Amino acid sequence: MLTKRARKLALGRLRPGRRPSLHGGWPIPRAVDRDHADNRLDASTPAQAAALLARAAALTQQREFREAEKLVRLILERHPRHPAALVELGRIAYASGNQRAATDCLRNAIVVEPNNARLHNELGCMLIGLGERAQAFRCLLRAREINPDDPDILSNVGSFHLGEGQVSEAVAAYRRALEIDPDHFKARLNLETALKKAVAPWHFPMMNDTSRNSLYAEAIRRVVPGRTVLDIGTGAGLLAMMAARAGARWVTSCEQAPWIAAKAKEVIAANGLSERIKLVAKHSTNLRIGQDLEERAEVLVAEIFGTSVINELVLPTVTHAHAQLLQPAQGSSRAPRAPAPIWRPARRWRQIFSSVGRRISR
Ligand SMILES: C[S@@+](CC[C@H](N)C(=O)[O-])C[C@H]1O[C@@H](n2cnc3c(N)ncnc32)[C@H](O)[C@@H]1O
Repeated sequence: MLTKRARKLALGRLRPGRRPSLHGGWPIPRAVDRDHADNRLDASTPAQAAALLARAAALTQQREFREAEKLVRLILERHPRHPAALVELGRIAYASGNQRAATDCLRNAIVVEPNNARLHNELGCMLIGLGERAQAFRCLLRAREINPDDPDILSNVGSFHLGEGQVSEAVAAYRRALEIDPDHFKARLNLETALKKAVAPWHFPMMNDTSRNSLYAEAIRRVVPGRTVLDIGTGAGLLAMMAARAGARWVTSCEQAPWIAAKAKEVIAANGLSERIKLVAKHSTNLRIGQDLEERAEVLVAEIFGTSVINELVLPTVTHAHAQLLQPAQGSSRAPRAPAPIWRPARRWRQIFSSVGRRISR
């Protein structure tokens, strides 16, 4: 059995502060003061093994891998299941460029300490580096299962999701990590990256496009008063708030991106309109009458035109809304139809659709 002190010494470098990183590879152990290391090459007692391990770590750091490995193997001869020595051997392998051997060492360490979350976490990071993503994810999930409140692990889970393009899951994992440790640098940095992916940069010029906004405001003022409104794709809540202010009987708004919907909720509350706008964080095709909308709406308000006009799937969305979410058309349907050619400059199309926006209602 290792003493508490020896364990601390040996396993200490797997602790936070020297975090495993999906970006930075294997954590580099802190330099060990040779004066404090045991100079005898004897690993009989746990304390001696720990001292040897400290020396090995220092040597690894100095990239003297052969010497480092010699010391670690001395320990393993004496204690073949010494988890920290197995980890150190993995570090040496990793630092010498042999990632496959490094994962084997970690697996051996996990056999000895199956409930060591950090080992699973590090193995997960390493497998990501090797492109074995499915297995890596299993390791990260196991690490999180063992220690659900470890911000390093949560951050790595987030980065895994981000790598898979699962932005919502990534944002949730980073946020959870930051709840636990608000100073977790990597989680914060990665959250910013994820949010940049989540909220496309065109949102900002779009929100500041005053001619677009005023055309929508005018259309809404003309059509909405006294009517019930469905706003598809609320973004920051702009059109929903225009509709509420224009005197809609009720406004139900939906937004497919949960993190955008959460912000819209804040914006709507800050404008004192929470009582008048019901915001549902769902794609419009998942809205249900009697559940999300009390009844079919009379007016559809939507600005879901991408830069190539129909790439935000406006046509199927509006078609679905007509069929499932809106009251039957009175007179002619005025939902926009795709004009051709669609390759004209996006700005021009925005203007066209902004003016069509006057007629989006029915
Ligand atoms: C171009 S932005 C417009 C935002 C806001 N309506 C405005 O005019 O400022 C479109 C937004 O609609 C969301 N969206 C697009 N199609 C959607 C759909 N069918 N259901 C729910 N949200 C949708 C997108 O996630 C995006 O946030």
